[in-house]
Amino acid sequence: MTDVTGMTDATDVTDVTDVTDATDATDATDATDATDATDATDATEKANVPTAKPFATTRASGCPFDPPPEYGALRAEEPVSRASCPVGTDAWVVSRYEDVRAALSDPRLSSRAAPSTHIVPNADLHRPIAPGSLLHMDGPDHTRLRRMLTSEFTVKKMRALRPFVQRLVDEHIDAMLAGPRPADLYRDFALPIPSLVICELLGVPPEDRDRFQEQTTVLIRVGSAQEEVERAAAEIEEFIGRLITAKRTAPRDDLLSRLIQRGQDSGRPFSQEELVTLGVTLLIAGHETTANMIALSALALFRHPGQLAALRADPALVTPAIEELLRYLTILQFGLLRYATEDIRIADATVRAGDWLVAALSSGNRDDRAFPGADRLDLTREAGGHLAFGYGAHQCLGQQLARVELEVVFTTLFQRIPTLRPAVPLEEIRFKDDALVYGVRALPVTWDPR
Ligand code: HEM
Repeated sequence: MTDVTGMTDATDVTDVTDVTDATDATDATDATDATDATDATDATEKANVPTAKPFATTRASGCPFDPPPEYGALRAEEPVSRASCPVGTDAWVVSRYEDVRAALSDPRLSSRAAPSTHIVPNADLHRPIAPGSLLHMDGPDHTRLRRMLTSEFTVKKMRALRPFVQRLVDEHIDAMLAGPRPADLYRDFALPIPSLVICELLGVPPEDRDRFQEQTTVLIRVGSAQEEVERAAAEIEEFIGRLITAKRTAPRDDLLSRLIQRGQDSGRPFSQEELVTLGVTLLIAGHETTANMIALSALALFRHPGQLAALRADPALVTPAIEELLRYLTILQFGLLRYATEDIRIADATVRAGDWLVAALSSGNRDDRAFPGADRLDLTREAGGHLAFGYGAHQCLGQQLARVELEVVFTTLFQRIPTLRPAVPLEEIRFKDDALVYGVRALPVTWDPR
């Protein structure tokens, strides 16, 4: 199932920085291509393709919030560069803000292997796309499916969820305060809240939520054994399948019931497979991202105490603060993979039909041309145009929901526990350097008892 969204594909990859094999494989292909190239024009074009360097995945030591340092030089000197990716293929890497936006809004770039399959060794980049797999679809098929969903994620609908989110946040803070210190802010707070919000959205009955949550946690945990992941994935698929079957006969006031109805009204009812894939996509896309964003943002704020104090003093700062944290942290750390279906010019590079391209979101979000002093976290900045939710046709469908969750969390957590702080030094915090969605593996926190 992790194939469904592609968002968790690499959570078990432990050695994404070792690209030796991938480089060798690509070199071999290039060499064969060059030998076969009899046409002089082809040879000239090949000569114009820059040499591929290993795809940058390693952050500088002591800089857990900054993308790999190579990106600064790439933005300055080679904004569209070539990289040999762990998957075993070379790709163009687009590193400037404007170019990332241009690439992500270009319909000639397909999402068929999105979002970050390039860092998964040996992944099949041309795997058939499962029906209902929104993230991987293109053109009219994607538009049709997305249109069926947009009315479920409007600002108004998401704001209506606010009291529910507030209750969840308060309950989890109560439980944390009643429990032992230190607590793990990731496991005890950041993980369950988005999961329970998705349960509410999909209409998962309250009595099933604990089990559902346990299984999704296994699914997105870095380091879960492959077998364990497959078992959890099968259970969740089966569970969502049963949920859909029940909603077909007894519809309720929830997203899945309305989607079933909308499909029927359109004259092209959704198949069971499409609906299960969509349900799983929403679950994973909305859970792992938001959970990591909550815990990593908390840590970033702890590391910037002046800004944390400003946020605590002025809750209205939360709206720009969330946008700035999304920009600064860009948790889809390896960017978005696209496939050229036609020749395209981006900046001064010619991307040929059949080439792969990575839109480096984290680099675009640190581009000084778009965000002056981009390496600085500044909660008062106008960061609204950031790329953390992507851009173009696939831009995050759940972004208003993510904003509501983050806003409630960051107007409540530090108000209710003013002395909340990390319980260990930064050096002891382990990060998800190799997962598609960046974050902390755990965040031990403590506070002064009242
Ligand atoms: C901070 C939290 C989040 C971040 C950083 C994030 C990031 C992203 C990004 C970068 C994309 C674009 C992928 C691409 O173009 O290939 C995306 C797409 C998507 N996101 Fe989010 N997301 C977040 C929360 C959510 C939530 C809460 C939901 C809803 C339940 C959600 C559902 C989706 C869906 C369904 C798509 C696919 C849209 C499409 O293909 O048309 N996301 N997200």
